[in-house]
Amino acid sequence: MTDSKNIVLTGIRPTGALHIGHLVGSLQSNVEIQNQGDYVRMYGMIADAQGLTDNFDNPEKVHENVMEVALDMLAVGYDPSKTVMFIQSEIPELTELTFYYMNLVTVARLQRNPTVKTEISQKEKFNGGIPVGFFTYPISQAADITAFNANIIPVGEDQLPMIEQTVEIVHKFNSIYGDTLVSPRAVVPQLQAAARLPGTDGNAKMGKSLNNCIYLKDSADEIAAKVKTMFTDPKHLRVEDPGNTTENPVFIYLSIFAKPEHFAAFLPEYKNYSELAAHYERGGLGDVKVKKFLNSVLQETLRPIRERRELFAQDTSAVMEVLRQGTETARAAAAETLSRVKRAMKLNYFD
Ligand code: TRP
Repeated sequence: MTDSKNIVLTGIRPTGALHIGHLVGSLQSNVEIQNQGDYVRMYGMIADAQGLTDNFDNPEKVHENVMEVALDMLAVGYDPSKTVMFIQSEIPELTELTFYYMNLVTVARLQRNPTVKTEISQKEKFNGGIPVGFFTYPISQAADITAFNANIIPVGEDQLPMIEQTVEIVHKFNSIYGDTLVSPRAVVPQLQAAARLPGTDGNAKMGKSLNNCIYLKDSADEIAAKVKTMFTDPKHLRVEDPGNTTENPVFIYLSIFAKPEHFAAFLPEYKNYSELAAHYERGGLGDVKVKKFLNSVLQETLRPIRERRELFAQDTSAVMEVLRQGTETARAAAAETLSRVKRAMKLNYFD
């Protein structure tokens, strides 16, 4: 038991199966937070409504990925007895809160949100104009957070502007309507591993549309094939050439995933990552050998996750039931907040 008053909320957009970038960027640390237990409640939201803001023309994609993401979450260790797992769109109170918070945010402030700015510039499909729904998703994210009185929001760096904007909305709301909402704090994973994982092709970002991901649900053969064709140092032509490890995704993955026990089991000539990297940089270490080791490391890391996933995937109706119950619990909390919000705004005629 804990005397903590923390309420933790994590959120994932269901727009694709989760990959090893998500694993090191957020999933592992979310599960760690869950298992440390320093909270009165922890939520794991599947943000399908937010996912639709830039996929409104592809409802099948978002629909299918709700189950995919739920399976991924369970596979990596989200435990429904500890984390309330729920589906965003099934909580209409969130939409209602969003509408009221819209009064508290200017167009100019949204335009300045760095995450929104970057996302807009990267989306060719917004050439025809930016949908208002997408533009205002930071406001809906403020609703997600405040609806559950969440004070701890584990997020990656890219989400910091969202939390900052939520804090502003909370302060504005409280200063106009009286103390009502809880101000949240972002918690960014400390691990060096939380740095964004590059794609298998060396692209700075691992992303579904870039076709450079290793997914949590990939089979052993798929992992092996992806590792085999991974980008390395293009100047490392002969084994004896000195190699670059810092812009080399094979080495970046190893620096994150390779544990001493992996070296002991699969590559005992080296004790740890630094010894291996030093040899590569000096010259005399071939890519094939390093990739073979990375494959063993990833197989060891992902096998238990995949096996758990397959187990849950055998009974998707049980998974849906977990989400249904979680959604019911979450909705009760959101309804309580909404009624407080409406009372504060004097929208409580029939009380
Ligand atoms: N924007 C987050 C992402 O893309 C997902 C998300 C939606 C979220 N609502 C949230 C995260 C509330 C934390 C809190 O990753």
